[in-house]
Amino acid sequence: MNEIEEKDKEYIWHPFTQMQEWVAQPQMVIERAEGIQLIDDQGNRYYDGVSSLWVNIHGHRHPTIDQAIIEQLGKVAHTTMLGLINVPATQLAEELMAVVPKGLKKLFYSDDGSTAVEIAIKMAFQYWQLKGKPKKQKFITLANAYHGDTVGTVSVGGIDLFHRIFSALLFDTVQAPAPCCYHCKLASDPEQCGMACIGEVEKILEQGHEEIAAMIVEPLVQAAAGMLAQPPGYLRKLREVTEKYNVLLLVDEVATGFGRTGKMFACDHEEVSPDFMMVAKGITGGYLPLAATFMTDEIYNAFLGDVQKKTFFHGHSYTGNPLCCAAGLANLKIFREEKVLEGLEAKVEAARVKLESFSVLKHVGDIRQWGLMIGIELMENPADKTPFPWEMAVGAKVCKKARKHGLMIRPIGSVVVFMPPLASTAEEIEHMLSIIHLSIKEVTEEEQLQYGAKDVAAVMI
Ligand SMILES: Cc1ncc(COP(=O)(O)O)c(C=O)c1O
Repeated sequence: MNEIEEKDKEYIWHPFTQMQEWVAQPQMVIERAEGIQLIDDQGNRYYDGVSSLWVNIHGHRHPTIDQAIIEQLGKVAHTTMLGLINVPATQLAEELMAVVPKGLKKLFYSDDGSTAVEIAIKMAFQYWQLKGKPKKQKFITLANAYHGDTVGTVSVGGIDLFHRIFSALLFDTVQAPAPCCYHCKLASDPEQCGMACIGEVEKILEQGHEEIAAMIVEPLVQAAAGMLAQPPGYLRKLREVTEKYNVLLLVDEVATGFGRTGKMFACDHEEVSPDFMMVAKGITGGYLPLAATFMTDEIYNAFLGDVQKKTFFHGHSYTGNPLCCAAGLANLKIFREEKVLEGLEAKVEAARVKLESFSVLKHVGDIRQWGLMIGIELMENPADKTPFPWEMAVGAKVCKKARKHGLMIRPIGSVVVFMPPLASTAEEIEHMLSIIHLSIKEVTEEEQLQYGAKDVAAVMI
């Protein structure tokens, strides 16, 4: 064990990790990166197949973002936004407004996805208080939802494994079923399932709209739930029913934003303009922590007036940090100059075609894709949808195997998640998918699958 690994194990508690298993196993130290590859301290290269947890967009060490940060460092790294304006935060706000859905007119900066969602929840709540409808306090959430790990965002989440332990700390929500293809008990085909789920939301709205402040949704894909895809038309329908019942729609684009689904935002596929939209992760191209909560003029204007009654008393030390905003400006510049969105269609299609070859694998039960957000669900018996038991850690074992073949990916339970940087070429995407194909075959068909996950702590979830 080298010194860095030793000290990591002595001092650091890793996110979403069982540390007892982490310290007992050899772990990898990443020293640098180039383009879409990570390089460890032994000089081994690995494709970054989950974009460093869904954040990286244009590859690592992109000269435009590197340069923008260096230039900003020569001016100022950080000043507060409480009582002061800074240049990059203002410029980025203007540029973001040009690309977000047209009804969104203002933004509030924060640091990560959880804070962006937390802010939208608090603003939506306060909005109705200010509008003289104090009974509107409840939130509709979706089953399997993930919106972050702070107490407020866990309250609107629905992933039992992560959230149940904190239940006594959380505020009550009204949970609606989520469209999740064959997992759904409501109907067998995705479209019917989506519409049946909308029906359930409409029932909740019809009965309870006077007490409901807002509905929060991950658009097109519930990523952390295992890349559960929504059928086309679902988000648009949600917009229609929430509007009909005077309930705010909060769209969480933290995972889907900045090109992941094939368009700049998931909302663009459905021509939906929500009341709030939250972005983070890809906003800086995956370089630095920054988030934004967008809202309409209607929301913003409701907060104008009396200081004590109408101010939004919320803020973070690094809100609108100039270095992060400089990276955000460079991110958008690359989207424009390298015509990133225009080039995506061919890459998405290359992935779709390559994924067809996965149907020969005995344990591939479902493949879900929206743009370059891909989930490959492994099952013990796909014919009758028998899942692999969680304790088998089959997804983690496949991901561990993929590392040996030069690809860094992480699973969610039995779902192998593949979310490469948008900068990956079609050939690189095909190559990475070949590695996943091989790893699934080796783990599920050629090796004896054992219960237990002791050697896979680094890639468990
Ligand atoms: C849809 C969604 N919302 C919110 C978050 C939380 O973001 P962060 O980890 O930056 O707090 C995530 C993170 O994966 C996410 O996928």
